[in-house]
Amino acid sequence: MKSGFLEAPFCVGLTGGIGCGKSTVADLFAELGAGIIDTDVISHQLTQNGGEAIAAIRASFGNDYITDGGALDRAKMRGLIFSDATAKQRLELILHPLILEHAKAQLRQLQTKPYIIIVVPLLPESPAFRQLVQRVLVVDCDATTQLKRVIGRAGMTATEARAIITQQVPRAECLKLADDVIHNDDGLGNLAEQVTVLHGHYSNMLYNH
Ligand SMILES: Nc1ncnc2c1ncn2[C@@H]1O[C@H](COP(=O)(O)OP(=O)(O)O)[C@@H](O)[C@H]1O
Ligand SMILES: [Mg+2]
Repeated sequence: MKSGFLEAPFCVGLTGGIGCGKSTVADLFAELGAGIIDTDVISHQLTQNGGEAIAAIRASFGNDYITDGGALDRAKMRGLIFSDATAKQRLELILHPLILEHAKAQLRQLQTKPYIIIVVPLLPESPAFRQLVQRVLVVDCDATTQLKRVIGRAGMTATEARAIITQQVPRAECLKLADDVIHNDDGLGNLAEQVTVLHGHYSNMLYNH
């Protein structure tokens, strides 16, 4: 075992727009042995029945936004934050610090992995998350492909998908943050090849850090 990595596993922030392929890319890195932390998964756990963020959301937004089962009413909240930017901020002020705390805890559990990929859709908006990672990987695809994949996956209408994409940090802004870019316009075989190349880089970077 080489020295250093028990104290500091190399950490890559994986970001990109909805439907661009973050989860698919994370799965490919996992197959190669990377540790994976997915902040979307953490966010869902915090807001599921009895989740850690529910009490604060109830206090801030009222019972209307909590289901009978005690989970965040996602559809209702989505409706609110599309039309109300301050509500979006209010929700983020509750969720983001908790997500960060859980991500850090998972990071400590993954110390033996050669390096770690943290899937962080909110990376462009979050200085705290940018501080946590040593490198930023953006998975990018063209707007038409993105729209097709979002509609295909989530059963959304084109209008709903466009509304979500419009709310996100623009593609060009996201790419400005990138140390590495994966272009996900072709098939899964091409994607896997790009991941394998980066895996080689990240495995070696660990020891230089
Ligand atoms: N290269 C690809 N070829 C075909 N389908 C893809 C490719 N990359 C991703 N997909 C599909 O597109 C959808 C969105 O990908 P996903 O990884 O879930 O995106 P994200 O996590 O960024 O929202 C999924 O249904 C996924 O299976
Ligand atoms: Mg995903």
